Parts: sequence; structure tokens; C-alpha cells
Amino acid sequence: RRANYINMVDHLTDIPLTNIEKETNLTRESPYRQNFHIESESGSLGDPNGFSYFNKNYHLFYQWSPLEFSQNPHYTHHGWKHLCSPDLIHWQDLGAGMESDTRYDKYGTYSGSAFPVDDKLFIMYTGNTWVNTESDDDWQRIPYQIGAWMEANNKIKKVCTPFITGTLKGYTGHFRDPKVFKKHDKYYAVLGIQRNNQTGSAVLAESDDLHNWQILGEIKTNHNKFGYMWECPDYYELDDKGILAFCPQGLESEDNKFCNIYQSGYLIGKPLNMSDRNFVCGKFHELDKGFDFYAMQTTKDKKGRRILMAWMGLPEIVYPTVKYHYTGCMIFPRELKLENNVIVQQPVAEIKDLYSKKYQITASLNNKRIEIKAGKQNSRDIELAIVGHNDATILDLFANKNNSRHLRLIFNRKKQKFIVDRSCSGLEIASSYGTSRSCYLDQSKLIKVRILQDVSSAEIFLNNGKEVFSMRIFPDDMQNFIYLTSENGEAKIKATINQLK
Ligand code: FRU
Repeated sequence: RRANYINMVDHLTDIPLTNIEKETNLTRESPYRQNFHIESESGSLGDPNGFSYFNKNYHLFYQWSPLEFSQNPHYTHHGWKHLCSPDLIHWQDLGAGMESDTRYDKYGTYSGSAFPVDDKLFIMYTGNTWVNTESDDDWQRIPYQIGAWMEANNKIKKVCTPFITGTLKGYTGHFRDPKVFKKHDKYYAVLGIQRNNQTGSAVLAESDDLHNWQILGEIKTNHNKFGYMWECPDYYELDDKGILAFCPQGLESEDNKFCNIYQSGYLIGKPLNMSDRNFVCGKFHELDKGFDFYAMQTTKDKKGRRILMAWMGLPEIVYPTVKYHYTGCMIFPRELKLENNVIVQQPVAEIKDLYSKKYQITASLNNKRIEIKAGKQNSRDIELAIVGHNDATILDLFANKNNSRHLRLIFNRKKQKFIVDRSCSGLEIASSYGTSRSCYLDQSKLIKVRILQDVSSAEIFLNNGKEVFSMRIFPDDMQNFIYLTSENGEAKIKATINQLK
């Protein structure tokens, strides 16, 4: 661990500019740079943090180590990158928002959230520290829950004293990621925690003034033995339901569920009872069934929409972009709604501002393959309606001309299953966690599919966003064809493709 902190600097300005430029220049050479998804200009991008609507702008921060892959000399710098946008589409880079520069966050300005209060933005996050107890190898994690205030001019000032110091009795040092919300004129924060018996949970803290915080205790759910740690919790209400979202670590995969290294999803139930912290809820739903999705965070905007951001990536997974000294990107922001007691997700409507050329195709195919013509740039919003009288309909995206390479979407009508297979899509990623993901899909009626395709990702929305699959793809530059095939029978399809600017 200590080796990771060699050449650790508090501020980006402590690093010679040439070293930073070397990193960003290399990153710019990557053929996988996205067109309309947020990426870091170098180093690693992780969890979205402090996602909020404040002072006529959306603010988004993320976990950022801009010199994560720098060499000779290797520098370590960790903090929150800051971006803002009036419309969730055009983002302005505001540089390092917060850096690991105090004794409470020296080894990591970990994840947290933001909440607008009058003309300021309140920020609450976890500072990570390590203390060396007895021997050199015995390092202990001491977390601090700390804060900051941002002014309308985007200047951030940290609060000098921690709100909550250290670990709680009965729990380990894994205690982090406060998400602040307001209910009945009181402020609350939900935090992820690990019990001493190595099970994960979420605790609730309360404050009247955003300075004095009191731990109320665990949120009581029916999920008491559900992974060894819950990261990045969030609590919000949609219609008259309460939603507790979190990222459980350590779940065994079962059939087509929980296939990634770590999971992310939610419990839905009656609104959380703030006095006894009882959360009466049902089963855990995965929010995204794709390969790359983690650490989601939501905010409510001025239109009253609940907007979701998430990291289109996972901790500990090595992505091929490290060759260009960067990893990670965000999902395209989604609006969340409830339908029949489950969350449905749709890309925010503002995506239309990116539409350029439009292609429309109506076809009936019978045991054959057709090419779907669209612009050559792999940045598109694809809408597809399929009515099948066949065994399966197959959509190949990121295909090369002879279709030996592709990201394959299989609508298996015989088995009532949807499968996405990235085994032949390009460079290998995390294949030890499997190369396909799937879900049950009723295909007795029309299937609606929406896909946001970018240079190195796909986000697939089935039936108005009831099921979503997000993933990174690393194709070569010849993989810009789209093919559609019907197997054993007829399929009627209607496709609308909007190329994105
Ligand atoms: C999730 C996470 C958080 C933590 C942060 C540190 O990816 O592990 O729990 O605050 O990343 O980068």
C-alpha cells in the first residue's frame, strides 16, 4: 500500500506541467476516445460525486487520479474532478474540484455528495487515511466524514473539522460515501458501512445545521446478509415509494444475476420511516445488467426530474485504455421513473440536441441478413421496434464488413431471452467474468429497443428502459457496420437512427 503513495502530491500545481501534458497528450492519441460521454483527460475516472443542480447548472464531480498511470517519475494525486453544464450535454471542465490536501483526506478524497442550500452548495464526503499501528504491515483504515462549501463562483472551501471521526462501534473501517438529502426540514446522510461480522449495511446520520451530525443507526431492511460491504448508497423517493440504492460487494452470481465483480441496484418499498429507520421493502433489483456499471448517484433537477449518473466501469477491472494512461467514462445521464413498482430508465431528453443526420429503415426479413445503413461514425441513438415470428432476431453492432467481429444482441424468441455477447467485439475486457449478459424478455409482442452507441460503449434500453445493459467495447476502426438477421422465420423491423454530433 505504501508503495502506491510514493511521490504523492497534495495539489496538481505541485507537479511540473510537462508531466501533466505528457499524460494528456498520450491520452488524446487513444482511438477509443468517446464522442458524447464524459471521460478524464488522463488517469482514472471513477465514481460520480456531488451530482447536483446548483446556480443554474448541473455540477458533476468524479473520483479522479490524473496521474494514475504516469511513469518516470510516477506521481500520485487523488481528488474530485469538477465539471458543470447547463444542459447535461455540454460540460465545462473546471479542473480539480477537491484534492487530498488535509490530514483527514490525505489518502483519498473519497466519494460523497452535494446539496444546494440557499446560495451555496454543501458537500459531504469521506476522507480516507491510513495509520500504521504495530508493524509496517499492519495498516489500519481510519475514515473521516467531512465537508466543504462551494460558492456561486465555484470556489470550494473545506470545513476544518470532521463531522464524524473514525469508525463506529461494531463496525470496521469501511465506512464511507455519504449521500445527503432533506426530509421534513431536517438533513440526513445515508452512508455505506461494514459490520464487524463482515456484512454490509447502510447507516443514517442526521443534522439540523449541516455541521453537527449525529449517527442514528442502521437502516433496517430485509437484507441483513447481503454482501460484505455496501458502497455508494443513495436514498430518494419516486412517486410514493422509497428507494434505497447501493452497491453491494461480495454477492455470488446466480444464473444471469450478479455477474460482475461488484453489483449495483436498489430496494424499493414504503418511504423510509425516519424515526425508527424501518425500510419495508421487497427484493433487490439490479439497476443495470450490463458489464460495466457502478457507483451510481442521483439528483433532482429544477424540472423535478430524478437524474442518474454512474461510472461505466468497475473497480479492479483493467481496461485496454491504460495503454493510453486513462480509464473510465460516465454513462449518458438518465431520467428515472417508476412503472409497476420498478425503476425505468431513459436517456435524458436533451440528447436530441446532439442529433444530426437521421436514417429510417422499415424491413421485413426472412431467414436473411441485411445491412442497416447509417453514418460511419459509431455515435448514434438507435431506436428499433421488432415483431418476430421467428426463432431469433440478431442485431450486430460494431460489426466489421464480413461480420466476424461484432457486439451481438440476440432476441431469442424461442427461449424468451435477450442476450448481449461481447466475445467477438474487439479487445478483451474482464472475460473471467463472462462474455455475455442476459435477461428474460417476453417476445410475444412488439419489442422496443433503444441503444446509445458511442466510439467505445453501448447502453441498451429494453422496453422503455425496464432493463438496461451498459458496456464498454474496444473495436478497431473497421468495425462500423450494423447488421440485422432473422433466424428461422420472419421478423418485421422498424429502425430510426440518429447520428450524434
Ligand atoms: C467505489 C469506491 C467508494 C470510495 C471510492 C474511492 O468505487 O470504492 O466506496 O469512496 O470508490 O475511490
